[in-house]
Amino acid sequence: MKFTTLLFPAVVLGAACPYGTYAPEEPTDTRGVCPMLNTLANHGYLPRNGRNINENQTVQALYDALNLTPDFGRFLFKAGRLSNPMPNATTFSLDDLNRHDLFEHDGSLSRQDAYFGQWSRFNQTVWNWTTQYYTSDLLDVQIVANSRAQRHTRSNLTNPMYSLSEVGYLFSVAENAAILSILGDKVTQTCPKKFADYLFTNEQLPFAVGWKKSALPITIQDLVTTFLAIQSATSFPPPPPDDSSVDIFN
Ligand code: HEM
Repeated sequence: MKFTTLLFPAVVLGAACPYGTYAPEEPTDTRGVCPMLNTLANHGYLPRNGRNINENQTVQALYDALNLTPDFGRFLFKAGRLSNPMPNATTFSLDDLNRHDLFEHDGSLSRQDAYFGQWSRFNQTVWNWTTQYYTSDLLDVQIVANSRAQRHTRSNLTNPMYSLSEVGYLFSVAENAAILSILGDKVTQTCPKKFADYLFTNEQLPFAVGWKKSALPITIQDLVTTFLAIQSATSFPPPPPDDSSVDIFN
């Protein structure tokens, strides 16, 4: 067989789906808990099959698609690599991120808790609960803080196995910070609701509803700034004060 014949399918596929163009995942592809990484694979910024993603591919994808600085990209890649169960791994696959209670945690915005069943893919009911708390067309720090608190409160009340590790907590707040500072606008710390809804439900970059890649490079510090703002805006109901007038044991 001629070399050009062997090359033909790759050229045709490449032409049909150039770098950056959206194409839905194939049944043989793998995807996971992160709506943004799934999206970047659907656009071909990351390998479309979602497997064996290395540091360069991650850094380049996050830079090309989202304008994340290479330092930030390398930092995020570490989380991906650590989720690969193989010792000394230098790559990860999108479904490695599904390992429950490593980085994946209860109380996600769009995935149900592992206790209830399939936990790695988009769940419309869970997303409806989250978006009920998106009370304006423009998401801001207070709104995402409220919807995050709602998810953890609901999980805590309904899931007998609910837990949130320290790392899980950091991820949970950071993911909400990412919605505002990466998908939205890192300066105003806001994001149009339609951008988040489009990305989560379609796993496609929200160009169709007016999204553009940030013109400003996005650093780890930008995410940390929004992280801290969400943390300060979050309040769960305080525990009741001691009530010595009631003795529940007698
Ligand atoms: C190598 C880079 C990345 C890694 C390893 C990663 C990893 C993860 C993991 C493990 C989760 C699941 C947490 C959970 O249980 O809910 C997650 C969720 C999430 N990620 Fe990523 N992520 C990366 C990049 C990004 C970027 C650049 C964004 C930008 C918007 C992003 C946005 C989100 C959001 C919003 C969620 C929450 C999904 C939900 O709660 O339903 N991620 N990511």
